[in-house]
Amino acid sequence: MNRELGRTALVTGASRGIGLETVRQLDLAGLDVVLAARDVARGRAAARSLGSPRIRVEELDVTDAKSVADCSRRLADDGVDIDVLVNNAGIYPTDSFFSLDEDTMRQALDVNLMGAFHACQAFCPGMARRGYGRVVNVSSGLGALTENVPSPAAYGISKAALNALTLVVSAAVPGTVKVNAVCPGWVRTDMGGRGAPTGVEQGADTVTWLARLPDSGPTGGFFRNRRKIDW
Ligand SMILES: NC(=O)c1ccc[n+]([C@@H]2O[C@H](COP(=O)([O-])OP(=O)(O)OC[C@H]3O[C@@H](n4cnc5c(N)ncnc54)[C@H](OP(=O)(O)O)[C@@H]3O)[C@@H](O)[C@H]2O)c1
Repeated sequence: MNRELGRTALVTGASRGIGLETVRQLDLAGLDVVLAARDVARGRAAARSLGSPRIRVEELDVTDAKSVADCSRRLADDGVDIDVLVNNAGIYPTDSFFSLDEDTMRQALDVNLMGAFHACQAFCPGMARRGYGRVVNVSSGLGALTENVPSPAAYGISKAALNALTLVVSAAVPGTVKVNAVCPGWVRTDMGGRGAPTGVEQGADTVTWLARLPDSGPTGGFFRNRRKIDW
């Protein structure tokens, strides 16, 4: 039997861009998908645009621990176990270091780091208990220490921290739960802009690949174009 059938994935920040495309690809692969969005009306409209009856929409603001806990409780009350978590929600402040104010810095950390922190704390214990899980943290090469964390400052720092979180969580769960980070490349979305060289389908490809890893697949790695890259 295909072990993916009957699995449920939750994608954060899925109202548009790479998140929405990841929902589309996972749905196409036969998983049940929870499209999580901070604005539930925008999430519903996004789900309608995909036209699949299997997609469930949930309100989830990743910066708000209560919002994450409430979402997790609603799913548990309905008997829905999350087997695959895609921490995709992200923001991209463009300020250089000396023009960066504290609020902007905190906001970047809140969405890009704490969002994944809250979601991993909510959903990984269940994966560990059930002996199956896939976590994909949508990061960026702009957070790579080996590339000297290229600017913009708040974004790079938050993604470097997300990479560190990836390693910490992967070591905290059993090997049956695979926890990896991905750089999707420079992708044509609202964030990436119209000039980006990579289409959203290709941008979400490695995300979906990591979300569907076989039991023999890697954990605690950083990937681009389905290949391991340096942190
Ligand atoms: N595009 C690129 O070139 C590129 C490159 C490297 C990495 N990435 C990463 O890929 C991920 C997706 O990027 P994208 O290009 O698809 O960006 P996008 O088009 O700007 O979409 C960002 C998504 O994040 C959601 N979001 C923002 N704050 C949130 C919050 N507090 N709670 C829940 N959702 C929230 C947005 O929801 P709303 O619709 O409600 O605003 C939106 O759905 C991000 O983590 C980004 O850093 C992108």
